[in-house]
Amino acid sequence: MSIVVRPAELEELQGLSALCLRSKAVWGYDDQSFLEACREELSFQPQDLQSTGIAVAETDGGVVGVVQIKVANAEADLMKLFIEPTQMRIGVGRVLMNWAVERARSLGAIRMFIEADPGAAQFYRNNGAYDVGVAASGSIPGRMLPKLVIDLASCSPTERRGVQ
Ligand SMILES: CC(C)(COP(=O)(O)OP(=O)(O)OC[C@H]1O[C@@H](n2cnc3c(N)ncnc32)[C@H](O)[C@@H]1OP(=O)(O)O)[C@@H](O)C(=O)NCCC(=O)NCCS
Repeated sequence: MSIVVRPAELEELQGLSALCLRSKAVWGYDDQSFLEACREELSFQPQDLQSTGIAVAETDGGVVGVVQIKVANAEADLMKLFIEPTQMRIGVGRVLMNWAVERARSLGAIRMFIEADPGAAQFYRNNGAYDVGVAASGSIPGRMLPKLVIDLASCSPTERRGVQ
């Protein structure tokens, strides 16, 4: 299966926001009010196309994932990484992580921070990130999330475990 990564386009941002919510729901947040509280943080706005980097992964079946990064002052933030629920665990997340790392590095970042959903933290550890503490959720008051970092200066995709 080939996975193509390309920049996101304005007219697909609404669909990509819906993908993020569907993806977030896989961790069993069956409380609709929890997902509603996350909706704003998981939504893309048109201006994001200028202020951040957004890429989508596509297979023959269409768009299967999205990633968003922001770079400022040599530091990057992984703002979103969401895979279509039916397409998880087939390598799409890793491909989009590689894109994020390479894009952040090419824009001059030396580290990339990740405030992870607890269910996704191990995925990031498997892909070169290490824990640096916790961060307050931007959506749910009082909820703390694992905070991780990837050193971009010392870490190339081939050095990260299992990355092709
Ligand atoms: C977390 C997420 C991005 C991973 O993407 P994915 O496409 O399913 O992962 P991949 O198939 O690329 O997996 C790459 C490697 O990570 C491992 N992995 C994937 N998800 C994992 C998880 N939740 N926990 C532990 N390991 C995980 C895979 O087994 C694989 O390792 P291997 O090659 O040694 O077997 C995806 O599951 C997702 O979108 N989850 C829901 C939304 C979410 O929480 N996003 C992150 C917000 S911070």
